Amino acid sequence: MHNFAFDKLGIKDWIYLPFHVKPKDLKAAVEDIRKLNIAGVNVTLPHKEAVLPLMNELSPEAKKIGAVNTIINDNGKLTGDNTDGMGFISSLKADGDFDPKGKRAILWGAGGAARAMAFSLLEAGVKSLSIANRTPERAKNLVADLSHKSVQWLKMEDVAETLIVSDLYVSAAPESMKDIKFQPTMFIYDVVYGEFTPVLEAAKMAGARCLGGLGMLVRQGALSFSHWTGKEPPVSVMREVFDAKF
Ligand SMILES: NC(=O)c1ccc[n+]([C@@H]2O[C@H](COP(=O)([O-])OP(=O)(O)OC[C@H]3O[C@@H](n4cnc5c(N)ncnc54)[C@H](OP(=O)(O)O)[C@@H]3O)[C@@H](O)[C@H]2O)c1
Repeated sequence: MHNFAFDKLGIKDWIYLPFHVKPKDLKAAVEDIRKLNIAGVNVTLPHKEAVLPLMNELSPEAKKIGAVNTIINDNGKLTGDNTDGMGFISSLKADGDFDPKGKRAILWGAGGAARAMAFSLLEAGVKSLSIANRTPERAKNLVADLSHKSVQWLKMEDVAETLIVSDLYVSAAPESMKDIKFQPTMFIYDVVYGEFTPVLEAAKMAGARCLGGLGMLVRQGALSFSHWTGKEPPVSVMREVFDAKF
């Protein structure tokens, strides 16, 4: 996605490469970003939280979410940012034509992606946010961290009933609730990309609008791209790479 964008924008001598970093080597790998004068990196599992104390600065998003997915290197000063939440909201609005402002939302999941999505849904002005998760404790912890009057923990047994009065269902886990039934008026977002998941199937069955997570993947990447290069990210060009595949 990034290499395709560098090429299309005529940005010469830039390359995006994968590095497999073991947890024990994380500190040294971060130091190498400075030493090698790498413009920036994306961080993924399992390092998104562990990398936090190794940054010189954190963006407000990374601070709130408690995880970093993008590092920007300014002459050795490393800033940790998190573009997952903004990528999600941007995809919801631009790809899904759905504005969460004033809407009642259910979020399924309480991991890294769910945290970013929860904070950004609140910032986007949802009316209420109910959070359910396979392991209830994690959902309760997320609710406590969000510390907002519009946010509550939702028991798994109560999801079906709450769906009747909800506008948006966001699945932020590799698997969602089984046998879920949606209202035709709802919007369903599944963070999983590259496959037509059971959640999306249930949405189609109900006649509800729905979207998979590819747009979020592209848009969180596009935001990282603009941080590193200072250029407007070519979102549609970056998306092209995947449209051929998925
Ligand atoms: N589209 C994008 O741009 C994007 C970005 C980031 C992540 N993702 C995707 O989002 C998903 C979650 O990633 P993450 O980084 O948040 O992972 P994570 O931090 O490991 O969290 C995983 C979450 O999924 C739940 N879960 C895992 N397996 C489950 C199952 N079989 N049934 C029900 N719940 C299950 C976990 O529940 P417990 O607490 O009970 O374990 C937890 O809430 C992954 O599929 C990942 O590929 C997509």
